[in-house]
Amino acid sequence: MKKIYFIKSGCILVLVLSVLACNSSKKRNSTIGLKDASTFPIGTAIKIHTLMNDAKLQKIQKQNFNSITATNDMKMQSIIPTENNYNWKTVDTILNYAETHNQRLFGHNLIWHSSTPEWVIAKAEKDSLWLDSFMKEYITRYVGRYKGKVAAWDVVNEAFESSGGNYRETFWYNKLGKSYIEKAFKYAHEADPDAVLFYNDFNIERDTTKLHAVIKMVNEFKEKGVPISGIGFQMHIRMDIPDEIIAYSLKKAAETGLQIHLSEVDIIFNTHNDERLGGIENYSSLTDEMKQAQAEKYKNLIEMYKEIVPKEQQFGITLWDFTDRDTWIRGFFNMRDWPSIYDDNLQPKPAYLGFLEGLKD
Ligand code: XIL
Repeated sequence: MKKIYFIKSGCILVLVLSVLACNSSKKRNSTIGLKDASTFPIGTAIKIHTLMNDAKLQKIQKQNFNSITATNDMKMQSIIPTENNYNWKTVDTILNYAETHNQRLFGHNLIWHSSTPEWVIAKAEKDSLWLDSFMKEYITRYVGRYKGKVAAWDVVNEAFESSGGNYRETFWYNKLGKSYIEKAFKYAHEADPDAVLFYNDFNIERDTTKLHAVIKMVNEFKEKGVPISGIGFQMHIRMDIPDEIIAYSLKKAAETGLQIHLSEVDIIFNTHNDERLGGIENYSSLTDEMKQAQAEKYKNLIEMYKEIVPKEQQFGITLWDFTDRDTWIRGFFNMRDWPSIYDDNLQPKPAYLGFLEGLKD
């Protein structure tokens, strides 16, 4: 059975490669990839420095994706590392890359406890009134500068606890109360009324208490006229997260009528806790059987997104790093894993074909 599946995937690979070859001979300078098989944007997050310095990676990136997110380069820590020191250089580089290669630029993120610079925390300790005015100035300047250029933003990232339905007691929450979230959306909307504004979080595809809490917040925002336009499912999933729960969560979120973005997709085998470092390494190597199972999981995920989320709410699917070589999982959790659709040698894995099949079905 496994072997048959492997042979089937092998045939599909040959088929895909011949289609690629055939098309590339037809249309010179054009390349086809995942984005061409999709009716919604297919994105990837990536470290911009890595992308700029690796021609092979760039080639694969351009071939497969029409949306781009910076893994870290657009976070507050990178934009304003010290007081009054706005650093736009890298964002301008990303924007230039996105415009040159016809890709949608996705802004990740405006407010996130994990990327709040130390100087902001220290200053707010002394003067809590200052923090609201800083948040307003930061968002207004940043979103305003890239008005009409950054298509969408993760306005607030991870405002709920890793599990359960409570607001995360972050520095922002403790200083400003939960209203910091709606204020951030308001400031972003004022700065660019056309930008699509997301609330983004993890585990909401598997933890229904957390999902319901996020949906409750979203519905309150809608009633109050807070300008939220989308829900981002980070979708850092593991092989054993049941598809049925993911399907339920997508359906519930889609019922809000908002845009749904799978914003940081990867699929791991091992188990990590949700904080930096630490995980349980049940698998120390990647077998063919695991590769096939992962391909199936990618395929199912794409199919669920297409089937459950109404077309007009399909904002897109974004991978978080798209190669096992570059994945954040290994460094962040200090464990081996193979969560991506390309392998350590930048070759497409069965997961790539699973993704492609999901798009085509
Ligand atoms: C991660 C980056 O990929 C890492 O390089 C960095 O060390 C920590 O942040 N959820 C998010 C992303 O919203 O911003 C995180 O990105 C991954 C988890």
